[in-house]
Amino acid sequence: MASNTLTITDNRTGKKYEVPITDGTIRATDLRQIKTDADDFGLMTYDPAFMNTAACRSAITFIDGDKGILEYRGYPIEQLAEKSTYLETAYLLLNGELPNNTQLAQWMHDVTYHTFINENLKGLLDAFRYNAHPMGKLIATVAALGTFYAEAKNISDVEGRRRQITRIVAKMITIAAFGYRHMVGQPYAYPDNDLSYSGNFLNMMFKTTETKYVPNPALERALDVLFILHADHEQNCSTNAMRAVGSSHVDPYSAVAAAAAALYGPLHGGANEEVIRMLTQIGSVSDVPAFIKKVKAGEGVRLMGFGHRVYKNYDPRARIIKQVAYEVFEVTGENPLLDLALELERIALQDDYFVKRKLYPNVDFYSGLIYQAMKFPMDMFPVLFAIPRVSGWLSQWEEMLQDPDQKIARPRQIFVGPHRRDYVPIAKR
Ligand code: ACO
Repeated sequence: MASNTLTITDNRTGKKYEVPITDGTIRATDLRQIKTDADDFGLMTYDPAFMNTAACRSAITFIDGDKGILEYRGYPIEQLAEKSTYLETAYLLLNGELPNNTQLAQWMHDVTYHTFINENLKGLLDAFRYNAHPMGKLIATVAALGTFYAEAKNISDVEGRRRQITRIVAKMITIAAFGYRHMVGQPYAYPDNDLSYSGNFLNMMFKTTETKYVPNPALERALDVLFILHADHEQNCSTNAMRAVGSSHVDPYSAVAAAAAALYGPLHGGANEEVIRMLTQIGSVSDVPAFIKKVKAGEGVRLMGFGHRVYKNYDPRARIIKQVAYEVFEVTGENPLLDLALELERIALQDDYFVKRKLYPNVDFYSGLIYQAMKFPMDMFPVLFAIPRVSGWLSQWEEMLQDPDQKIARPRQIFVGPHRRDYVPIAKR
């Protein structure tokens, strides 16, 4: 009968070892028994960038990258995008189950009534230059927000954790919008508790002299769908940052700030901004083939918004976003860069270079076009990603804190530097 174990022969010593296989995985620490002698530290695995290492067991988000499947707590992303709202999806991520009417009403109420931020935070924003990137402001403001809630340090208080989670989800839209208003030199617009989460965000972003801001329902819904699509994506760079930093038992505001910093990078949440820059740089449909040629020549140019570490098929979020783009353009008029994007996608999808490497459009390829049509400046794109992703980060943080397998994250290294040598006085160097 087949056994769920792996037999390893160490050809250095001729010894045989049997290690258990659980969920298609062996424990890296089981390899430590494999030694050449008693002084040997034991075998390690070398896996820079976590290409083949599971760092946790998780019940939150499932991805099958080859089939293009994404599910939150078992629910397909397509169904959530069609039928759910961002706040309901955030509840699902955080609690494991969809809420009933009472639970949803309570959660929506709690989030709505926590959207105000301490007025002192406006002083913090004033310290930034007028042209400071809103993502830098978001990272700093979230970290600063934690200092207003001293009890957030007590991460073993379950109820307290819940309170901080509600606060962070609620205040993200206010922090993000205030960062924008500071950038454009407009007075801050305060939350309006009559509005939905997405509607309220649009209100704080774009309200001017009207006494009551009324969001366009199609744009409000489109933004909500984009929030659903970005809410979680299992163990990516920023989630890993959230878990790694959170594993030191720091308060969740500091861990979210670290995760947001990871998201800021152009290879992660900064990619949608890069897509627009790339499309603008290409300039016209007729210049697409020349650009593709440059990408293929490997001259350090990448087709931004293409490729994914996990999806080796069309990113299911990109498919939904493409649909949302058309719905938004019906209200805003078409983004002139759309034709360019479609042509780029058309050529790339039939080009051997991209086909062979399984490079397909990812979530960022079309989201920037939508944001731009909705009048969000490019600098705000990663902020729009961070707003909903906090519900994913916080779900992962909660899960990590409850996981008895988890400890402070602390990778190993293979030391390749010089070994012991004596200090040389500066005159003799
Ligand atoms: N354009 C051109 N070639 C690419 C691209 C791209 N966008 N992405 C990967 N490749 C090529 C690489 O050059 C490499 O080719 P080689 O085998 O000839 O060397 C091969 O495809 C594999 O690429 P890796 O870099 O090893 O793939 P990895 O899994 O490390 O990278 C990543 C994934 C970072 C997303 C990458 O595809 C990329 O840089 N894409 C553009 C940036 C982007 O859109 N990021 C957003 C990702 S989604 C998100 O974070 C929300």
